[in-house]
Amino acid sequence: MPTEGPLVDRHGRVHDDLRLSVTDRCNLRCIYCMPTEGMTFLPRAEVLTFEEIVRVAGVARELGVRSVRLTGGEPLVRRGISTLVERVAALGFDDVALTTNGILLAPIAEALAAAGLRRVNVSCDSLRPERFAAIRRRGELDVVLDAMAAAEAAGLAPLKVNVVLLRGRNDDEILDFAAFARDTGRVVRFIEYMPLDADGAWNRDQLVPGREVVERIDEVWPLEAVRAPGDPAPADRYRFVDEKGEIGVISTVTEPFCGTCNRLRLTADGGIHNCLFSDAAHPVRDLLRSGGSDEDVAMLLRRAVWAKLPGHGINEPGFLRPRHSMSMIGG
Ligand code: 5AD
Ligand code: SF4
Repeated sequence: MPTEGPLVDRHGRVHDDLRLSVTDRCNLRCIYCMPTEGMTFLPRAEVLTFEEIVRVAGVARELGVRSVRLTGGEPLVRRGISTLVERVAALGFDDVALTTNGILLAPIAEALAAAGLRRVNVSCDSLRPERFAAIRRRGELDVVLDAMAAAEAAGLAPLKVNVVLLRGRNDDEILDFAAFARDTGRVVRFIEYMPLDADGAWNRDQLVPGREVVERIDEVWPLEAVRAPGDPAPADRYRFVDEKGEIGVISTVTEPFCGTCNRLRLTADGGIHNCLFSDAAHPVRDLLRSGGSDEDVAMLLRRAVWAKLPGHGINEPGFLRPRHSMSMIGG
């Protein structure tokens, strides 16, 4: 394992994108993420403080990490989130972004932008109010649509909208979402349903392959692939040939992009994970709380990246779903 230079895994891939889950709590209970009831959350003392998060982010920055994204749970339920954004942004990343369900976004969009946030991704799985509420189990579509407008008004643009498609539930809205992308200029990203639901109910038949989404839209509004050279982003981007906007598909399950993945994740309780689907955490919290040095934190980050497997293995016979759900590891 190299002890200097950027964070590389044993396949030589440089890791420069860090996701910080700032809380495992959420004000929603989406069906593909949370159990019907009985969700348990981390005791407060186990959640990293702002100081601890900033410290890890600062070491990561020194090791060449260039972009960070704050996630949850729902990051906006964490009190003082704008302060955290400000402190993380002050570390000098090229990009500071946040993924939110949008419920609490409108009132603080300006404060977040002023704190140095550059972009937001807002989750929205249906454009029909009743269905939206059924999928999220709580929350109103209008609040989220207003939040998107507020974010744009605050300069958090271009805005991305994350859609998780479930077969028979909202896959009849593919064209509606494409029209939404064309009308609003927001980049709609269709994410394949992944085995990260808390109920363990995931099954392959429920996911809608990214390729199918592209084909269905392309029949109505022709699309062309956008290829940014060297761009490790997992989303396959497509623009409408008539230049009315862009969509993306994230085909984690059907077309894994593990070979170009450059991501590293820190969970709310201080576990460093080298993959969304890896249960093996490299715990940083006790290290921080027992007087560990920045050098110790750096070595832990290096070890976590070095330990990365070549792929998530979802499509292999021995795949074991991770014990954590999306709300624990963040998007
Ligand atoms: N599969 C795919 N995406 C999921 N998300 C939550 N749970 C799942 C899952 N099981 C999405 C949310 C949000 C992002 C953080 O992750 O909708 O867009
Ligand atoms: Fe909350 Fe996001 Fe999970 Fe929905 S997917 S319950 S918004 S953490």
